[in-house]
This record gives sequence, C-alpha cells and structure tokens, in this order.
Amino acid sequence: MARISSYTFSSLLVFFTLVAISSAQLSSTFYSSSCPNALSTIKSAVNAAINKEKRMAASLLRLHFHDCFHCLQGCDGSVLLDDNSTFTGEKTAGPNLNSIRGFDVIDNIKTQVESVCNQTVSCADILAVAARDSVVALGGPSYQVQLGRRDARTASQAAANNSIPAPTFNFSRLVSNFASQGLTMQDLVLLSGAHTLGFARCTTFRDRLYNESCTLDTSLASSLKSICPLQSGNGDNNLSPLDGTPAKFDTVYYDRLLQRKGLLHSDQQLYKGDGSGSDGFVKFYSKHTGAFWEDFGGAMLRMGALRPLTGSNGEIRMDCRKVN
Ligand code: HEM
Ligand SMILES: *[C@@H]1O[C@H](CO)[C@@H](O)[C@H](O)[C@H]1NC(C)=O
Ligand SMILES: *[C@@H]1O[C@H](CO)[C@@H](O)[C@H](O)[C@H]1NC(C)=O
Ligand SMILES: *[C@@H]1O[C@H](CO)[C@@H](O)[C@H](O)[C@H]1NC(C)=O
Ligand SMILES: *[C@@H]1O[C@H](CO)[C@@H](O)[C@H](O)[C@H]1NC(C)=O
Ligand SMILES: *[C@@H]1O[C@H](CO)[C@@H](O)[C@H](O)[C@H]1NC(C)=O
Repeated sequence: MARISSYTFSSLLVFFTLVAISSAQLSSTFYSSSCPNALSTIKSAVNAAINKEKRMAASLLRLHFHDCFHCLQGCDGSVLLDDNSTFTGEKTAGPNLNSIRGFDVIDNIKTQVESVCNQTVSCADILAVAARDSVVALGGPSYQVQLGRRDARTASQAAANNSIPAPTFNFSRLVSNFASQGLTMQDLVLLSGAHTLGFARCTTFRDRLYNESCTLDTSLASSLKSICPLQSGNGDNNLSPLDGTPAKFDTVYYDRLLQRKGLLHSDQQLYKGDGSGSDGFVKFYSKHTGAFWEDFGGAMLRMGALRPLTGSNGEIRMDCRKVN
C-alpha cells in the first residue's frame, strides 16, 4: 500500500507542480533580486510572534488555508481585508467570524517587510511564508514556498461561506469540498494534519459530545464536557486543543484519530476504523513521520498554488487590511 500510494502521490505531485509552474508562474526565487531580505524578515517576525504566544503558529497556518480555500478567488490576501461601511469581506464570513486570528501579527510583518522593500512583497505571499515558518517553528518540516502571488482588490463573503469546509461535514462532503479545489483525498488527510497545532472553540465540537458519543472516546468525551457544557451560550468560546500536543508539529493528531479521539466531527470522519474512506492514509501517516513530513510540504504547495493572481493582475497592497 505504501508503494502504491507513494507512486500515485508522486504522479500527482509532478502533475500539480507542472500546472502550478505553467499556469500560475509562481517561483521560489521570485523576490531574490527585488527583495532579497523578504524571507528572513518574515521569518524573524513570525518567530518573535510565536515566542510570545505559541498558538500564533496555528493561527497563521490557518489564515493561509482560509485565504486559499475560496471558490472564486484563491491565495490572494482577500481574507485580510477589513469590512467597512461600503465593503463586506471574508473576515465576517461564517467560518471566520470570531475564529480566525493573527491579523495584528500580519500587520506587523507587513510593516517590517515594507521597511526593507517598499511595495514589493504581497500580503498573499506573506501569508504563505508565515504558514511555512510557523510549521517550522513548532518542529515541523520545512519546504520551499512558491512566491509571486499578488493581492486581490476584491473579496467575496458568499464564496468564503460556501468554500471553507465546516466541522459538521461528513467524509464524502470533505472529499468533494477538497476535490472542488483540485485536491485529493490524500491531500485532505495531509492538510488536516495541520490540526496537530492549535485549538478549537466549544461551539465547534459541542454536538459531538452530546449527540455522537459512540464515535468519540468516552474518557475524552467526559473531560471535554467539563469545559463545553450542553447548554448553548455556556462556555461557547472555551478552547480545547485539537490534539494532545497543540504546540508541537507531530503525528499525534493521526494517533488520536486511531483512538477515536479526534476533536472535531470532521477530524474523526477521516478515520472510521473499518478500513473505509481514508482510514489507510491516517494509519500510514500515524506510523510514518518521515512520510508525513515530506508529503505535508507537497500538499501545502498545492494548496498555496490555488488560483493566485500573478503578473499584472491584482496589486501589491500597501496595507494588508485595505485595497490601495
Ligand atoms: C478539512 C477540513 C477542515 C475543517 C472542517 C476545519 C475546521 C476547523 C475548526 C472548526 C477549527 C476551530 C475554529 C474555532 O475554534 O473557531 C479549526 C482550527 C484550525 N484549523 Fe482547521 N479545518 C479544516 C482543515 C484545515 C486545514 C487544511 C488547515 C491548514 C492547512 C487547518 C488549520 C487549522 C489550525 C492550525 C487550527 C487551529 C487555529 C488556532 O488555534 O488558532 N485546518 N479548523
Ligand atoms: C455568510 O454566512 C454568515 C453566517 O454564517 C451570514 O451571516 C452571512 O450573511 C453570509 N454572507 C453571505 C454574503 O451570504
Ligand atoms: C512606496 O512606493 C510608493 C509607490 O510605489 C510611493 O507612493 C510611496 O511614497 C513609497 N513609500 C515610501 C515610504 O517610500
Ligand atoms: C454526507 O452529507 C451529505 C450532505 O449533508 C448527505 O447528502 C450525504 O447523504 C451524507 N453522506 C453520508 C454517507 O452520510
Ligand atoms: C443534538 O441533536 C438534536 C437533533 O438533531 C438537536 O436538536 C440538538 O440541538 C443537538 N444537541 C446538541 C448539544 O448539539
Ligand atoms: C472600504 O474597504 C475597501 C476595501 O478594502 C476600500 O476599497 C475602501 O476604500 C474602504 N472604504 C472606506 C470608507 O474606508
């Protein structure tokens, strides 16, 4: 199984890499001459933010995901645009409101990047690089980020509502949600591995504690009930780690799925224990850290290449919160 899946995976990788290179024109050396200090500036600002608060790594990784998963636009910094009286953007979309975070950190990174290279590095690229640096900072794999995305001048709240998967989704809905982005079931398992970092609010897993206990380990369910009471409105924003080690990029997320300890309904959908669906991939990555390390980077590149604006499309925003 390992041989077959790694062969299939390599073919897909080659295919998507070619697509990314030929249509998106992203390149890992995009800023080599225009802003040689861009990557080191981003990295040190990301590390400083994570040193202050470990969870920021998770929050920055998730921001890049929510920027990219959009049925109309792709990784184009649209998630960073603030709402105002004449503009409604993605920050207040259902999956994002009171949920995504890290905007002040992105502002701070942008300010530092602007001070080394005025209006050269896009907010969309900052998100992609900050996601990678966050993974590395908490002990995960490094990979070369493709660059050259430009920033959107528009955003669509409706599209954000419709594109970002919900924690209530079942397996087939998760698979088709990823397929609509050109991503495979294996990518779904790999990218969900990002839930090795960070936290989720009670509102996102309450149903699972009181309505679904047979798919959730009983001892975990009872300890979660103490932080997430039945009655809606009580403790809605209380946090639980998504795996047992929320500040360490590791394979514990997959281990816990094997033990029926996935926090979100959508997490546990990836492993049902009957050999169906993506059970095989979850088992495989739980046991093969090296393969997860290598394959996670590939999946992040495919996600990061979704419909970027390149060339003279879009703009290089001066302030990530608003169009120029
Ligand atoms: C497969 C479908 C996915 C679903 C249904 C999903 C859902 C969620 C939910 C409900 C939360 C908690 C939000 C809250 O408490 O308000 C969360 C957190 C998180 N998600 Fe996902 N997610 C998915 C895929 C991904 C992917 C692909 C990534 C990144 C590559 C990702 C990265 C994260 C991270 C790092 C956190 C923790 C954020 C923090 O602590 O600030 N997720 N996700
Ligand atoms: C997006 O969803 C939120 C709540 O889930 C809703 O309040 C908002 O009106 C939706 N926006 C659009 C444009 O459909
Ligand atoms: C940055 O460049 C823009 C034009 O690209 C210019 O309008 C602005 O004044 C410059 N800012 C600084 C601080 O140099
Ligand atoms: C998954 O959810 C979709 C949409 O809610 C539903 O139509 C479908 O029947 C569900 N599939 C399974 C296997 O439960
Ligand atoms: C459990 O499911 C029922 C029926 O679908 C629903 O009415 C109820 O609100 C759910 N309870 C929780 C705590 O989610
Ligand atoms: C509202 O936000 C949009 C998008 O960033 C921007 O184009 C517009 O100038 C903003 N309007 C005000 C009044 O700030």
